[in-house]
Amino acid sequence: MTRIAVIGGGRIGEALVAGLLESGRANKDLVVVEPHADRAEVLAGRFGVRVTPDAADAAVGADLLVIAVKPGDVDSVLTELGKADLDGGDREQVLVSLAAGVPTARLEAKLPAGFPVVRVMPNTPMLVGQGMSVLAPGRYARAEQLELVTDMLSAVGKVVTVAESQMDAVTAVSGSGPAYFFLVVEAMVDAGVGLGLSRDVSTELVVQTMIGSAALLDESGQSAVDLRAAVTSPAGTTAAALRELERGGVRSAFLEALHAAKRRSAEQGASAE
Ligand SMILES: NC(=O)c1ccc[n+]([C@@H]2O[C@H](COP(=O)([O-])OP(=O)(O)OC[C@H]3O[C@@H](n4cnc5c(N)ncnc54)[C@H](OP(=O)(O)O)[C@@H]3O)[C@@H](O)[C@H]2O)c1
Repeated sequence: MTRIAVIGGGRIGEALVAGLLESGRANKDLVVVEPHADRAEVLAGRFGVRVTPDAADAAVGADLLVIAVKPGDVDSVLTELGKADLDGGDREQVLVSLAAGVPTARLEAKLPAGFPVVRVMPNTPMLVGQGMSVLAPGRYARAEQLELVTDMLSAVGKVVTVAESQMDAVTAVSGSGPAYFFLVVEAMVDAGVGLGLSRDVSTELVVQTMIGSAALLDESGQSAVDLRAAVTSPAGTTAAALRELERGGVRSAFLEALHAAKRRSAEQGASAE
């Protein structure tokens, strides 16, 4: 079985550990690196795995070294890993970084020459096992190593691989995507309240409508265009609402919003080089 060290026991690290154990993709060999003693105790109690503050120690014998700390803490993790003998002995190791906006070249530059690196853009639905993880291999990651990482992240949702040059676009679509969705939910709930529904009822209606619509989109095999047409009868209520949304520029607002997110991601990546 693949031996995994998860470095950073925060929200994303914990979600990954939970998914890996539940799906049987990891067993009690899994190690978590977490510097806060109280948090470490919680994780050890919850999952029955070894939790240590020492990244170099956790790296010994691990196949996948998963960095799940904030981007600003990545350098200190790499420095700590530099104290370990990172050839994995008879096992080939791969570094997997979930840190937003940190380019593979920057990680590779701080690792032994030729060390395989895979960069991942996760999103927060990973916390409930419904994440969208997008992988970009570094220069030295081979196909079978990407497969290993894909299998690991399948424990917490879907996985897609792209070239690293597309990671800014990915950040704009699926990385930041949950926030756009929550904004739309917030706006619809407020509108329902404006129409006289209680906030609780409006929230329940909107949330279940979103869950049901997402499931329909996922399971029906039909496109969003077809499903929208199917609920838009001529001169009906939906047509009246959609006309207002188009008049409000909703489509171009999304276009501009995603362009802005992509530009911002590129700026942040450039400053992280
Ligand atoms: N696309 C997205 O929307 C998205 C969503 C979620 C996460 N992410 C990415 O996922 C990563 C993890 O996010 P998160 O929310 O899980 O972060 P988090 O809750 O801050 O968890 C990180 C944990 O790692 C600890 N840590 C800091 N330095 C460490 C070190 N040198 N060694 C070991 N552990 C260390 C932190 O301690 P301290 O509290 O002391 O720092 C914290 O407990 C981030 O890089 C983020 O960019 C992306």
